[in-house]
Amino acid sequence: MVTTRRKISVVGAGQVGTTVAQLAAYKNLGNVVITDIVEGLPQGKALDLQQSGCLQVFDSIVTGTNDYKDTADSDIVVITAGLPRKPGQDRSELLKVNAAIVKDVTEQIMKYSTDPLIIVVSNPLDAMVYVAKEVSGLPKHRIMGMAGVLDSARFRTFVSLELNCSLVDVDAMVLGGHGDSMVPMPRYTTVSGISITDLMDREQIDRLVDRTRKGGAEIVGLLKKGSAFLSPGASVVKMIEAVLLDKKRTLPCTAFLEGEYGCNGIFFGVPVTLGNTGIEQVIELKLTDAEQEMINTSAKDVKQMIDEVDVFLKNG
Ligand code: LAC
Repeated sequence: MVTTRRKISVVGAGQVGTTVAQLAAYKNLGNVVITDIVEGLPQGKALDLQQSGCLQVFDSIVTGTNDYKDTADSDIVVITAGLPRKPGQDRSELLKVNAAIVKDVTEQIMKYSTDPLIIVVSNPLDAMVYVAKEVSGLPKHRIMGMAGVLDSARFRTFVSLELNCSLVDVDAMVLGGHGDSMVPMPRYTTVSGISITDLMDREQIDRLVDRTRKGGAEIVGLLKKGSAFLSPGASVVKMIEAVLLDKKRTLPCTAFLEGEYGCNGIFFGVPVTLGNTGIEQVIELKLTDAEQEMINTSAKDVKQMIDEVDVFLKNG
């Protein structure tokens, strides 16, 4: 049997793209191609990463390029291209400039790969995945955004710090858009199976929910230049691993909804089953009225951005 290594292309040699490439190579998930418009940057990062292979013990081949031809026949493409937020800036302020970038990147990718699975990271996330779907024409199970894994990781971290318990025992679920109205779900957030609603009082939970919603902005504020990249990169690689190793993981991902959760025609953070074909199932939770109301508010914010980006796609 002839087997070929899987191919992971990462668009954007910035901080998130580099972290994705690094972790994917460390885990030997496949050969990695890093592409960027800046000459020398992806090549330099790729060479540097490749030279760590004998130390980190991986034999994935890492290539850097300015030419999309080198992404041909990718199994997975991760789009990180676009401007990151500045301190005080809302993700939605990046809408037009990043929509143009994601549109161009998606066109280039689709010239050389017929059925890639695309994971979008660029912000504002929910609208950018929509752009990539519209431009690529890929079926909805092959295109998704990374947000829920990251937002849940943030929630998990804050829970473990608050309760002084091991991070590995904490599981969390954050749904909705990747913006200030995202919906952390305390009922589905557990420490070894015990819901945090049994372990914390209202004030504690509200405080952690609020910190989770602002989790990205907190880091942007501290860094002053650029946004988070270590946990976003790790979140993407968790998704890549679920797909390439056909793990059937249950993870919150940004998926295209057609009726689920009362949403239609938008990308939105929901629990999905992630396996080798991509999104294999959207899992619908039985929400309380209060939870559904928060979902509706977040969906409204996302819809507004998607409507705006739709006008951009139609009129240029
Ligand atoms: C964040 C970016 C990746 O939340 O959206 O840090």
